[in-house]
Amino acid sequence: MKRCPEMIVVGTLVGLALLGLTACKGNKADLPEPAAVGEPAEGGIAMNVQKQPFGRTPDGTAVEIYTLTNDKGLKARLMTYGATLVSLEVLDRTGKPGDIVLGYDALDGYIKNNPYFGSTVGRYGNRIGKGQFTLDGALYRLATNNGENHLHGGIKGFDKVVWKAEPVREEGVVGVKFSYLSQDGEEGYPGNLAVTVVYSLTNANELRISYEATTDKATPLNLTHHSYFNLAGEGDVLGHELAINADAYTPVDAGLIPTGEIRPVKDSPFDFTTPHSIGERIAQVEGGYDHNFVLRSGGGKMGLAIRVVEPKSGRVMEISTTEPGLQFYSGNFLDGTISGKGGTAYLKHYGFCLETQHFPDSPNKPNFPSTILRPGTVYKSLTIHRFSIK
Ligand code: GLA
Repeated sequence: MKRCPEMIVVGTLVGLALLGLTACKGNKADLPEPAAVGEPAEGGIAMNVQKQPFGRTPDGTAVEIYTLTNDKGLKARLMTYGATLVSLEVLDRTGKPGDIVLGYDALDGYIKNNPYFGSTVGRYGNRIGKGQFTLDGALYRLATNNGENHLHGGIKGFDKVVWKAEPVREEGVVGVKFSYLSQDGEEGYPGNLAVTVVYSLTNANELRISYEATTDKATPLNLTHHSYFNLAGEGDVLGHELAINADAYTPVDAGLIPTGEIRPVKDSPFDFTTPHSIGERIAQVEGGYDHNFVLRSGGGKMGLAIRVVEPKSGRVMEISTTEPGLQFYSGNFLDGTISGKGGTAYLKHYGFCLETQHFPDSPNKPNFPSTILRPGTVYKSLTIHRFSIK
């Protein structure tokens, strides 16, 4: 994310509207005091960030939840457990807000059974085959938690740790900055890894996710965000229309590990270069969509990855990213056994994930873009979700 420390918002006092903007040559010391804890924003509409307690983990660690609001009716709630997006309210075409991500009402559900609802995933988004890789001549064995494979960072990935958090206020931006120090050897990975993730809202109706990390030993790193979206706010997602900026995808084996091939999408149910609904050709894809798309932008610079239109509500979401890949997962493993928010049973395809990231199993695929972070370099990645109405 482009940060602009010189331009800071004069923070809102509880119950007051935004007072104004100021440009100054300030530093951190000039930042306004964090918003009061536990007080909702007046009317919930002024750009604001607020913190509240959200329970405790079984070992007694306190968990907090931050509520972000922009001036346009966008509202995001993020908790320190897993740096998790708990809810995301977006207006529909009639101006009615609706929560467009699956999850639970309380912390307990996330701790007991969470298929990564809203999670920040790390160190490695998606699978590493057989949970091992060779780096600089050394073999590393990771925790395996998906058959013989390593998935989403292992048994206790970044989605299951409590992050430190602080509010962010910049010109036209409110957010929360999460930080976590992953120890050398954690889940089998080399190096002490310092990670920050900033989730923020802008008045351009964006949810931005900005990642940074440094390490003291070379390590694979592939951070991503794992919300299950449902822009209708209910029912299955098969009517959502997708246009994906990808001419190729990476086919997988039976264990969902890429074969290494980069295959054109042309003349296949993976061709979303023109809009298609999720449901239109899903029956032709064994198990449903759970594949990495090779984005045209190639990564390293911002590019539009996907445009999603939900015809009933009129909600539109566009995702841009600096990442080279997009994992499109159509919620195939949801089977109604999870009762989520408001007691709703999440049936198959009730949500879908759009994970901007590098390709799965890259540490074992020399032809894929590298995911190795080395000491002395800074990992940076930015993804923007932009909401509008059709
Ligand atoms: C990812 C994977 C899926 C599945 C889900 C979590 O998106 O691609 O195969 O593991 O996470 O259930």
